[in-house]
Amino acid sequence: MFIAFEGLDGCGKSTQLELLFNYLKSLNKKVIKVREPGGTEVGEKIRSILLNKDLNINDRAELLLFLASRAQLVEEIIKPALKCGYYVLADRFADSSIAYQGGARNLGIETVDFLNKFATNNIFPDLVFFIDISVELALKRLNMKNKDRLEKEGRSFLEKVRKSYMEIAKTKSNFIIINGERNVNEIFSDIKRTIDNHIISK
Ligand code: TYD
Repeated sequence: MFIAFEGLDGCGKSTQLELLFNYLKSLNKKVIKVREPGGTEVGEKIRSILLNKDLNINDRAELLLFLASRAQLVEEIIKPALKCGYYVLADRFADSSIAYQGGARNLGIETVDFLNKFATNNIFPDLVFFIDISVELALKRLNMKNKDRLEKEGRSFLEKVRKSYMEIAKTKSNFIIINGERNVNEIFSDIKRTIDNHIISK
């Protein structure tokens, strides 16, 4: 089973991914976690380009770099792991490109959707947890850290990202919106319930 976590910067998705990782381990499931951009040697090199504040990267070049990192991750890690029966937990995947590059950078949701299919060879998550927080809260959390190139974009960019995630939610039945403005355990109990139902129904 392939599960992705999505959301605005600072939404807490990495914490929730970690909790799910530990939970699945406690059930003796085979599980791995990956992150985007990155997750492979090639991908981590691409990540350092993408997040570098000193580089001025053209929007289309930016999209293609994210997609290149994803293509490598799918072939090198995700496909083989799924084949061996692992749960794969991804910290961001294709929907990030749709929301950030397709929506917020105005490259077009359909265009990115099409290119995602090419990059992933049509491998997509079974479930996507979108940890939803307001732009206000995202900005508040981001202000406390040393921001990377994308995190420096600011309010109107994040508003467009969130709006695009909401558009995705309307069209995809496996896209689950989780209210991320609660305490960590309350959020995780929603995620756990969904996963338990999946495990039981198998
Ligand atoms: P990430 O490392 O997940 O940052 P954080 O842990 O702070 O959420 O992602 C880095 C940045 O890259 C983040 O601002 C979102 C952005 N991003 C895109 O714009 N497009 C993409 O396809 C992906 C995967 C990430």
